Amino acid sequence: MIEHTNACINGVWVAASSGATFAVENPATGQTIAQVADLSATDALSAVDAAYTAQSGWAKRTAKERAAVLRRWHQLILSEQEALAQLITLEMGKPLAESRGEVNYGASFVEWFAEEAKRIYGQTIAAHQPTQRLLVTKQPVGVVVAITPWNFPLAMITRKVSPALAAGCSVVIKPSEETPLTALKLAHLAIEAGFPAGVLNVVTGLDAPAIGEALIADSRVRKVTFTGSTAVGKRLYAQSAATVKKLSLELGGNAPFIVMDDADIDAAVEGAMLCKFRNAGQTCVCANRIFVQAGIYADFVSRFSARVAALQVGDGAHAGVEIGPLINRDGLAKVEAHLADAVAQGARVEVGGTRHSAGALFFTPTVVSGVTPQMRMAQEETFGPVAPIYCFNTESEVLALANATPYGLAAYCYTRNLGRAFRMYEGLEYGIVGMNTGIISTEVAPFGGVKESGLGREGGPHGIDEFLEVKYGCFDLGLDPEECR
Ligand code: SIN
Repeated sequence: MIEHTNACINGVWVAASSGATFAVENPATGQTIAQVADLSATDALSAVDAAYTAQSGWAKRTAKERAAVLRRWHQLILSEQEALAQLITLEMGKPLAESRGEVNYGASFVEWFAEEAKRIYGQTIAAHQPTQRLLVTKQPVGVVVAITPWNFPLAMITRKVSPALAAGCSVVIKPSEETPLTALKLAHLAIEAGFPAGVLNVVTGLDAPAIGEALIADSRVRKVTFTGSTAVGKRLYAQSAATVKKLSLELGGNAPFIVMDDADIDAAVEGAMLCKFRNAGQTCVCANRIFVQAGIYADFVSRFSARVAALQVGDGAHAGVEIGPLINRDGLAKVEAHLADAVAQGARVEVGGTRHSAGALFFTPTVVSGVTPQMRMAQEETFGPVAPIYCFNTESEVLALANATPYGLAAYCYTRNLGRAFRMYEGLEYGIVGMNTGIISTEVAPFGGVKESGLGREGGPHGIDEFLEVKYGCFDLGLDPEECR
């Protein structure tokens, strides 16, 4: 299953110049599954050399030719669905069924942007002078650095890289040091699909801050796209200022999940299960604060808790498992700290609340009631299988609570009142709103946040614009203005 452990630069598999490697561990068992090339920041720059050299040739291909290579990559990813899913589960722990879903989800971006490659349109503008003609065209931004997270080791790469490649950019991918193996397999399939050498490169390494800084300092890199924490995103934003790079940042969230007393409670419980416990609560769009209106609060807490108590926890590679491990010790420690803080301030554990016997990084799916906005779990992303429930009385109260955060990625609301649904949609200060649904992710829609949740949009018709520059041409016809009248 593991074919490559070296970085992929200019179509060649390369070790670190020092020969150093780092261990990739299976979070479910703690076992080392591979030793991967530990590139230095200087090593990583050779990927920029390759990408810079390859970019103009790739951009000169017709959109139809680029689309054909992307479509072949899409087919190869799907034909390797099982192997890729096994690899995702092995290196980051999510249940196999979710990993298979991620392969389909990730492949869908490749297909979507293969189609969008052929729909990059320009404009002509009615000129302000009779002797001139005005043209607007779009051109690829150039070399793109994509810094990607461990929680979706495949889909977060394809969501960034496919529009870049479709637009005619070349890319240097720096995958998370927790999950480099899926990225390397994607690169293998990209080579098989026919991307020219240097168009898609993967640099692996443990010292992500140093590698990121070196890549961003290089003036040949014209765009940085990142998914990860707000703290790291702010650092990359500051580093990019020196060379005024374009940026897309998909950062942290603090998603409110609001259940009004006129909601379909069964649907809301189902939506909350999917929204909160997908990937063991390790997604940026996971419900982080569940607000339930007073009239249905007790009923919701009891129905939801019964469902959570029945979740199967274990190694994601085993059949029937619904909740895998947390990614690492820091992830587990954060979950425990948030819970301890909430309990100390009076919250009540309805279900779970402890580590799970399945292994060192497992936590029992937990429901906490009586949570208040002062608690840590109200202010920060818990990124784990803990569902905090708050009670509220009025629509205006919950809207204010939901918006009282520096984050603004995804929000959810359940109501059967049409007017209320529109009021909530318009009032929630978020880039994405799920109305009567807990799952909003799809390749056909723009994904991204406002406020400190980030910049730019990924996916949908807007996703490719992030990798294109607008060029305006003013053409003088060389005529006397009088001749034109
Ligand atoms: C994320 O957690 O960053 C991505 C989640 C998704 O695409 O649904």
